[in-house]
Amino acid sequence: MSSDTSLRPRRLRRGEAIRHLARETRLRADEFIYPLFVMHGRSRREPVESMPGIARLTVDEALLEVNRALELGIRAVLIFGLPRRKDPQGSRAWASVGPVQKAVRALKAEFPDLAVITDVCLCSYTDHGHCGLVSEGGDVLNDETLPLLGRIACSHAEAGADVVAPSGMMDHAVGALRSALDEARHGDVTIMSYTAKFASSFYGPFRDAADGAPQFGDRRAYQMDPANARDALREAAIDVEEGADFLMVKPALPYLDVIHRIKSAFPHLPLAAYNVSGEYSMVKAAATRGWCDERRSVLEILRSIRRAGADLVITYHALDAARWLSDV
Ligand code: PBG
Repeated sequence: MSSDTSLRPRRLRRGEAIRHLARETRLRADEFIYPLFVMHGRSRREPVESMPGIARLTVDEALLEVNRALELGIRAVLIFGLPRRKDPQGSRAWASVGPVQKAVRALKAEFPDLAVITDVCLCSYTDHGHCGLVSEGGDVLNDETLPLLGRIACSHAEAGADVVAPSGMMDHAVGALRSALDEARHGDVTIMSYTAKFASSFYGPFRDAADGAPQFGDRRAYQMDPANARDALREAAIDVEEGADFLMVKPALPYLDVIHRIKSAFPHLPLAAYNVSGEYSMVKAAATRGWCDERRSVLEILRSIRRAGADLVITYHALDAARWLSDV
């Protein structure tokens, strides 16, 4: 026992009134970014089986969903789209009448203060399901893919997106997007880079939701090796140099150390962490069996992500968590 027995850390844990004052990390609905899957059609919600509570939405349904989010204090969404058809180049990704472009226009018209972030990637639009063009030998081509990403980003910017988020882990995507946007007079559109995106097993449910699973091979030749953290700092340095406005780590929970390291190395940039589909579905699956308390588990997870250093959390739990935070 320490000789000074008057040192009593437990004093600050005595009751909720004191615990609240001593709390180091707060959690608020306006730090959440709510992902949405939008599709063609009208007045339809298609539940995603592996993600209870999440559905693919037509644009009119997305407006209703966002209205609910705003009422709970959430102020930002991240939009993914489902095209009617796919091809080797993913050309529906930059169609001005695609579901993402339509959703962005509708959301910005209805809710001008909502931050609309769009995912910029090819995997839901290519028939092979990879995040870039594929060579005859089956390699994902980096530099050939960049102009296509630029086209997608410009089509989102044209529709009114505030932030474009390249998620394909192509080298120099941030630089390519920055120059494409600037040339198209979208210099004020910001870039949230998926800086450190790992080749994770936790994307499975998302690939059902967005129908974007690779048809051959996997993504380990472009997404990061889960064993690496120094590599994340290298990715971040390149993104910062190329003009990223926001950085992101993905997934969140298995990579809290990476969140911490990136925040320490680049404290001046806002950092998001993506609490991905598999992280969501694990909690849901355990909670329905009574193996964990959903509310406490979710809030603990979201707090841990903020405590590690993320300023923003992209999470499918956003609506539930916002509701729980408002009734404590
Ligand atoms: C596409 C993309 C993926 C996710 C976001 N953008 C899947 C992947 O890389 O295979 C995953 C999101 C989630 O699991 O919630 N590049």
